[in-house]
Amino acid sequence: MNKIDWHARYTQQASWTRLLREHLLHRAGMGQATRILEVGCGTGAILAELPATTQIVGLDIDREALRLARRHAPAAALSRADAHGLPFASGVFGIVFCHYLLLWLDEPLTALREMTRLCKPGGWVLALAEPDYGGRIDYPAELAVLGRWQADALRGQGAEPEMGRRLAGLFQQAGLKDVETGVMAGAWTASALAETGLEWEVLAADLAGNIPGADLQKMKEIDLRARQQGERVLFVPTFYALGRAG
Ligand SMILES: C[S@@+](CC[C@H](N)C(=O)[O-])C[C@H]1O[C@@H](n2cnc3c(N)ncnc32)[C@H](O)[C@@H]1O
Repeated sequence: MNKIDWHARYTQQASWTRLLREHLLHRAGMGQATRILEVGCGTGAILAELPATTQIVGLDIDREALRLARRHAPAAALSRADAHGLPFASGVFGIVFCHYLLLWLDEPLTALREMTRLCKPGGWVLALAEPDYGGRIDYPAELAVLGRWQADALRGQGAEPEMGRRLAGLFQQAGLKDVETGVMAGAWTASALAETGLEWEVLAADLAGNIPGADLQKMKEIDLRARQQGERVLFVPTFYALGRAG
């Protein structure tokens, strides 16, 4: 199996969330915040889009991801650490956010409490994108099984595939104020529908060893046919949350 180009995947995901992300960061006062931290910054796909006028810090546990982030977001200061224990003094950031991170954590509440601790009073904590595979919509109906397979595979990798619906409660428990949660809308164009390569690479990597190759191939054929006919729907509800540190 080919090695997945994770930066390409994260850049693709960043394009899905761009409009809402920019809106939420603006609401959190991005123009005024002097220091912004992304926890679980990966290869720097999001960091690279932040305005260079702000001091930007990215943190990740993975050395290889940070090596790529150094290349893709050269203006950001980078730190290697675990989100469950953030190596910064309290109250030093105006905004602390994450993007497709909490589902991967053993203790997302511990990480959110840490993110809250780092914020100045009145600063904002944001979870900009957390999927919920339990609410996935697939059409044609034969493809619904793909969502169940992927959710099971994510659970097998230690992730929480229904993190989206848990965000509101976690933000409240972390002690954040004025909490707002919501779900990102979906929009599809013919050209986006035609782009299947990365989607199937990620799915095949997630499902490898769990689902027989022939079953997967059958699904792929149904998926490709539906895309060619312009009738494919694949919607994974992706939640966001923001709250103010006290
Ligand atoms: C799906 S990627 C998202 C990367 C980036 N936020 C983006 O959207 O492009 C999740 C990232 O979280 C990082 N991560 C997972 N567990 C972590 C932990 N305990 N502490 C810090 N980072 C972690 C992974 O190394 C990975 O880079």
